[in-house]
Amino acid sequence: MTRKRVAILISGRGSNMRSLIDAAKDPNYPAEIVGVFSNRVDAAGLDFARAEGIATAARSHKDFESREAFDAAIDATLEEWRVDIVCLAGFMRIFSDGFARKWTGRMLNIHPSLLPRYKGLRPHQQALDAGDTVHGCTVHWVTPALDDGPAVLQAEVPILPGDTAETLAARVLVEEHRIYPEALALVATGRARLEDA
Ligand code: GRF
Repeated sequence: MTRKRVAILISGRGSNMRSLIDAAKDPNYPAEIVGVFSNRVDAAGLDFARAEGIATAARSHKDFESREAFDAAIDATLEEWRVDIVCLAGFMRIFSDGFARKWTGRMLNIHPSLLPRYKGLRPHQQALDAGDTVHGCTVHWVTPALDDGPAVLQAEVPILPGDTAETLAARVLVEEHRIYPEALALVATGRARLEDA
């Protein structure tokens, strides 16, 4: 089995990154994590990746004169790592059209809502404000429009009386950590493809 070469893009805590790294420790897992890129040099997730012996790159978008120039730096890093699949995990940047188009079909994101509901920021609060009784998370293909590509996997959690955005986020996060490695395995083995979604 040739394992797919995966890079993870983060901006912060990196708990989803960690779930992917842990899954890929199994030699039978169809993907290996070859690098972690962060747009914040102080992202906590970088320390974990380094401690695991994974290559890291941290470049602040603020040091670039345009979105395109920053994305070109990300792209150069991905090419250097010979990446097959990109996993966004709490990566808080919107891509230029060219970058998004280049990686379409090879790039996944996890978003803490049942897409197409509640794209963008504060999805947990949005679900509470709407009076929903069910919430969840989605691993989806990244296309040029924000949080818009078709789902690979979703998981639902109940919204309970007294929930706050924080308690709800914690319940959803458990499911995020479960479905992201599952979804990446589906994509890495070709069982999930954007053309079929
Ligand atoms: C997660 O809830 C993820 O779904 C969202 O941002 C959060 C990142 O958390 N896109 P972490 O950095 O993976 O811990």
